[in-house]
Amino acid sequence: MAAALGRWPLGLTLCCLLGASLAVDRGNFKTCEQSGFCRRQRRIQPGNSPYRALLESLELGPDVARMRLVNEVTQVPLLLELWGLSGNVTRLRIQELNPLRPRYQVPDVLLGEPPAERLEVTGRDEGTLELSLGPGGHRLLVTERPFRLDLLRHRELLCSVNARGLLVFEHQRRRRDSLADKVSSVWDKIKSLFRRDPPKDPPGEEGAAQEGPEDGAGSTQSEKPTEPPAEPEEEPGAWEETFKTHTDSKPYGPTSVGLDFSLPGFEHVYGIPEHADNLRLRPTEGGDPYRLYNLDVFQYEVFTPMALYGSVPLLLAHRPRLSLGLFWLNAAETWVDIGSNTAGKTLFGKLLDYMQGGGETPQTEVRWMSESGVIDVFLLLGPGPADVTAQYGRLTGTQALPPLFSLGYHQSRWNYQDEADVEAVERGFEEHELPLDVLWLDIEHADGKRYFTWDPAKFPNPRGMLERLAARKRRMVSIVDPHIKVDGGYRVHSELRARGLYVKTKDGNDYEGWCWPGSSAYPDFTNPEMREWWANMFAYDQYEGSTEALFTWNDMNEPSVFSGPEVTMHKDARHFGGWEHRELHNIYGLYVHKATAEGQIRRSGGRLRPFVLSRAFFAGSQRYGAVWTGDNTADWEHLRISIPMCLSFGLAGLAFCGADVGGFFQNPGPELQVRWYQAGAFQPFFRAHAHLDTARREPWLLSPEHLAMVRAALRRRYALLPTWYTAFYHCHRQGIPVMRCGAPKNPKSNPKTHLR
Ligand code: NOJ
Repeated sequence: MAAALGRWPLGLTLCCLLGASLAVDRGNFKTCEQSGFCRRQRRIQPGNSPYRALLESLELGPDVARMRLVNEVTQVPLLLELWGLSGNVTRLRIQELNPLRPRYQVPDVLLGEPPAERLEVTGRDEGTLELSLGPGGHRLLVTERPFRLDLLRHRELLCSVNARGLLVFEHQRRRRDSLADKVSSVWDKIKSLFRRDPPKDPPGEEGAAQEGPEDGAGSTQSEKPTEPPAEPEEEPGAWEETFKTHTDSKPYGPTSVGLDFSLPGFEHVYGIPEHADNLRLRPTEGGDPYRLYNLDVFQYEVFTPMALYGSVPLLLAHRPRLSLGLFWLNAAETWVDIGSNTAGKTLFGKLLDYMQGGGETPQTEVRWMSESGVIDVFLLLGPGPADVTAQYGRLTGTQALPPLFSLGYHQSRWNYQDEADVEAVERGFEEHELPLDVLWLDIEHADGKRYFTWDPAKFPNPRGMLERLAARKRRMVSIVDPHIKVDGGYRVHSELRARGLYVKTKDGNDYEGWCWPGSSAYPDFTNPEMREWWANMFAYDQYEGSTEALFTWNDMNEPSVFSGPEVTMHKDARHFGGWEHRELHNIYGLYVHKATAEGQIRRSGGRLRPFVLSRAFFAGSQRYGAVWTGDNTADWEHLRISIPMCLSFGLAGLAFCGADVGGFFQNPGPELQVRWYQAGAFQPFFRAHAHLDTARREPWLLSPEHLAMVRAALRRRYALLPTWYTAFYHCHRQGIPVMRCGAPKNPKSNPKTHLR
């Protein structure tokens, strides 16, 4: 986060600016061990699944199969639903059959209810059931005890679900020491004082106790737990969790879900952005799982599985002749463990195994763990890589086709000071014969960080400035963040407060936290009325001084809350419909992006394509515009990591990706700056950006030789603009990433992957 050096002591600031290498403060962010549900789930060892599929409960609808699963320890029933969707996609959903409170099922990500094929029972045996999933030759084998699903194409096993027995569904329960329980236990005690007969065991206790795993042989009646054994031992933190100075009240207790997937024959897995890591995911044994939790991470490091600003829970697996995707539709905090039976083996070791006629078939294990919600998984069955990205595109939409200007070069910094500065920079590009399409204004342009306004001293005539730029066929982007200054004199704040459109605390007050403007409130973008209101703010008469040439940058939309746990919103904050923030955290940023893009479409009467850059994202964000890799650093490692990061974004549908050219923190040397331009020219979103405290770095401040190299890189970008535009068109139509190796298939040659 940019948060900036402004919040740092001067000595530390200077030390950074003078080139000491930057490091994230890991202590600000949870490890799996510090995240209660991740710790609980990771402690569960493979091979002991308590779940049984009640095959006799199967109900076959025209296109869905439903049956019950039961946890044989707690006896809590779950509902399993299976669909064979058209175009080689299988969906499986697991939820509580009788939940105490409904669980959040992520809305607004799928384009609609995907069409399903007819399911048929094709085999039944002692303890197994076979279903065929439509015309693709895919079959599902359901094993009763322990519950397991095997997905086959003809005779080939593609994927097994719960083969390691790591299905977890923390059913909702009442808190044992809740007030109601305390009252009832006091009442029981009073009653017992007047009772003559010895108290009896509560009904059902004995039977249930016999089935519990803790009920070892030889236990006596007096050793039996006094609580009904249907409720597992609650570990500390299950109903309240503290991290640093923040306590999460967790009023609904533990609600996490998890499931494992075995992928036989696969050694290469990708996806689940955003992480500053290699393209190919690594085995996580012995370290933390990859974390998906949208966070504003100050000075992030490279080559770690730590969470960053955005999350797409889509993993891709590839082997010769087969690619698969696993799309885990859950917007809560999620961790993903990757295991591999070939991890650590050298090529030579594998060869030796092979020559000795042995060696296991390579296999990758993927385990998803989410803090709440339901298990809703789409298995994208390819078979080719382009089929998988097209299948994902059919489910969640493809990259919005960007306006052509936005594929050109963007010049940004925090901040261009005033109208004169803007004009001088624009002239600089003209004079040095450097192509440029867009100039950017960061948070200092607004009046006291009140978004949708202009600082009256620095930007007294924004319309005139925009018209001058437009006359030269240039555009501008201004930043509009989703934290709103708490200030009764600020129209945006007073209207949102009056309409009750802010996120609430657990006690029902407007949620407030600290961000750039100081005390800030957070619009509840999950509420359609809020999005409607926000979209209307982009009308030319609402956003005063704006014109057709002004576009938008949504930053800090994880959401970033400087005073919150892990620099984000408290998980027990409340949203529209009574949902807790924990249930939907990762989709908040998508809603900000969506409302802004809709506002831009609306302001032109549906005539012009929008351009909106967002820092946070989720599955489906590709429908609303561009994303970037946040606050990187001006060093070679960050330049290097920008390539796998954008490749990984692209695999997960977010094709319009870029990294701050030159690096956000610190000052790049001339060689690094030139190399970054050369690399950035070949990345989909091409913008130079820099921190407030860095030295100015417009290209003409370089030596003439270096300037010439930057000019050549910029011109190469513009020479290839038609290629970029065509690549975006194919991406928009078919979901095929823009940044990739190798040529795309002729789009007409495979009509099945044609999207619209
Ligand atoms: C954080 C963003 O990541 C950065 O690009 C921006 O300059 C600062 N916020 C200030 O708005």
